[in-house]
Amino acid sequence: MINSINFTDKDRQYKTVFFETFGCQMNKLDAELSLGLLQEEGYKIVDTVDGADVILFNTCSVRQHAEDKVYSHLGALKALKKKRPEVIVGVLGCMAQKDGESIFKRMPHVDLVCGTRMFSRLPELLLNIKNHGSHVIAIDEDHIVNVKRAVTYRPNFYQAFVTVIRGCDNFCSYCIVPYVRGREISRTIPDIKEEVQALVSSGCKEITLLGQNINTYGKGLNGNITLGDLLSDLNDLDGIERIRFVTSHPADMSRDLIRTMSRLEKVCKHLHIPAQSGSDLILNKMKRGYTAGYYRDLISYARELIPHISVASDFIVGFPGETDEDFQETVQLMEDIRFQNCFIFKYSPRTGTKAAELEDDVTDEMKRARNMRLLELQKGISLEENKKLIGRVVEVLAEGASKSDSNKLTGRTRQNHIVVFHGSREFVGKLVNVLIHEVTDLTLYGTLT
Ligand code: SAH
Ligand code: SF4
Ligand code: F3S
Repeated sequence: MINSINFTDKDRQYKTVFFETFGCQMNKLDAELSLGLLQEEGYKIVDTVDGADVILFNTCSVRQHAEDKVYSHLGALKALKKKRPEVIVGVLGCMAQKDGESIFKRMPHVDLVCGTRMFSRLPELLLNIKNHGSHVIAIDEDHIVNVKRAVTYRPNFYQAFVTVIRGCDNFCSYCIVPYVRGREISRTIPDIKEEVQALVSSGCKEITLLGQNINTYGKGLNGNITLGDLLSDLNDLDGIERIRFVTSHPADMSRDLIRTMSRLEKVCKHLHIPAQSGSDLILNKMKRGYTAGYYRDLISYARELIPHISVASDFIVGFPGETDEDFQETVQLMEDIRFQNCFIFKYSPRTGTKAAELEDDVTDEMKRARNMRLLELQKGISLEENKKLIGRVVEVLAEGASKSDSNKLTGRTRQNHIVVFHGSREFVGKLVNVLIHEVTDLTLYGTLT
């Protein structure tokens, strides 16, 4: 293990890094934090592999498809590495944690494997490769991530993500995350407040708190701290306009937290709270710790207290043993709840998880058909719900130019709708009112009022 290294001026020479991230928002944020650290060491970020001295992938293991993608990207670098052997290729994140040394066997041209808790040591790991050669591995499971964030580096100036709890103790039977991200560790409120304060001082208006299972925030900290306490404290900070938090777990989402949400004006009235299935049998096999009835009651309670709250979900189709009847119950739940939007995934067995011991008996064709059915159903619901907003004025935080039309701006409502509207750059970073006149299932279109 490399301990303290004194960087010399030569080490700080001009270097370029290409970085690509796969997976969830927390992985994206870890990439952002890593890039911030590298920038502080003098690295320049480039957006093609051709001109890069260092090529890094922050990887995801949640489904087989996510891993296949990374291995194919890595395979494609073989030729480049032959031409320019001095280039450093690194695999970071969840797949690095999971596959460890075996990545070097499968892809000998990879120089670095760096797990989910070691990215704060990237600068010294890269230096180690430069000075001592390839095949460096850092996947220490006990290492605690502690990064002094470079607040000047972030993709969107007015909006930032902040990790408040790392890891997951839930062990849903299908999920690899607890194995690759480790046990839950919450950051203290003062630590989080300091980071949020620095972001706000540098111009940030909206903060999204991140956790794989954010409702258990505070577990293990002194003094019975809860997510509600953190939200209340952040709500009092001057300069911050909006606070969001993801991802909620139905079994850990307390009614107390819903009440806290309802009274804090800066907390956005939006919940991403994956149901995963509408069948109690499947939910039980998934080890989710709740029934569909419990989920319905929880959402009803939230809607009673916060009438305009928007609710988003994830679903897995084709879990082992899922029958037509089970699937029909998922369809029913989707029809009844009327989510704002949903992410739908085909079950993918992950070696090492409990569910991987069950036979993956739903055919791929059936998984695809069920996936399509839910996507179509949700698309119809989203469109119908969005149509209700035509003629209404919504508050949007203008984030920047729209990708599809650079003459227009894009941003989000407090309920997390994406809005595209006519407006000039002077509005970027401001909260503006937009009159909605047209919608699709995914986007609202309007004009400034
Ligand atoms: N609680 C986490 C969930 C991470 S995984 C969070 O913070 O987002 C995101 C979603 O991937 C899960 O909600 C689940 O719907 C899906 N998923 C997880 N494991 C899966 C698997 N083995 N196959 C298919 N989908 C899976
Ligand atoms: Fe995975 Fe379940 Fe933890 Fe989410 S709560 S990360 S689905 S084990
Ligand atoms: Fe993937 Fe790791 Fe996130 S497995 S979903 S990148 S926690």
